[in-house]
Amino acid sequence: MPIDMDTMIEAIDVNKEYRRAGAIIRALNDVNLTIKSGEFVVIHGPTGCGKSTLLNVLSGLDFPDSGKVIFDGENIARATEDRLSRLRRMKIGFVFQDFNLINTLTALENVESVLWPTVLRSSEIEDRAIAALRDVNLLNRKDHFPVQMSGGEKQKAGLARAIIHRPRVILADEPTGNLDPDSEQEIMKLLKKINKENDTTVLVVTHRHQLSSFGDKIVKMEDGKIKSVE
Ligand SMILES: Nc1ncnc2c1ncn2[C@@H]1O[C@H](COP(=O)(O)OP(=O)(O)OP(=O)(O)O)[C@@H](O)[C@H]1O
Ligand SMILES: [Mg+2]
Repeated sequence: MPIDMDTMIEAIDVNKEYRRAGAIIRALNDVNLTIKSGEFVVIHGPTGCGKSTLLNVLSGLDFPDSGKVIFDGENIARATEDRLSRLRRMKIGFVFQDFNLINTLTALENVESVLWPTVLRSSEIEDRAIAALRDVNLLNRKDHFPVQMSGGEKQKAGLARAIIHRPRVILADEPTGNLDPDSEQEIMKLLKKINKENDTTVLVVTHRHQLSSFGDKIVKMEDGKIKSVE
């Protein structure tokens, strides 16, 4: 299958600073970055270098002070909250370091909850949630609550939740930060599988350079700047 290499996300001269007790922290310092559709990108760098800030700005969770962020052809650096929440709901799947599951819902319900409330029929929602859980090899735990799952299983549920609405882009901020090495490999391989099979663009932020090998593109950050793109 040919990979469509159109531009998916582009950051142009993006700056963001934080002011804290008189000090200015340049969290993003003239960042330029292009992410192609279907790419698997690993962004890595030491703690505090601006990785989470970059991910938030690229997905419209946060605004840059200056510069442009073109997401699927649209400058979102100045978009309205309404527009941004629609964009996130339709085109983006998030995977969180701490899983972010709802403790009172089962794995299946956690995945389904992305599509509530919706015009879809409940049987359709369930079918799609079951398909997503099957994709991440977690169907055997569909009726388990988060406390009844291992860390790796919880992150698989988090991954299923991120793909149920078939997003164009998956953004993952330290998705394996709370996992043992075996689960870490498994989650990275699942992200790779989703990337390959569905042509989903994947951005993984990590401070672990061991995970760089998963990337088609490896972005190294330091002190709010992009040091290299390989
Ligand atoms: N809301 C905020 N107010 C003030 N400073 C902030 C804020 N958020 C982040 N920073 C600072 O901006 C810099 C970049 O933070 P960021 O969270 O993007 O780093 P990171 O690379 O994701 O780090 P980590 O690997 O620890 O998650 C850090 O120096 C941080 O202290
Ligand atoms: Mg971070």
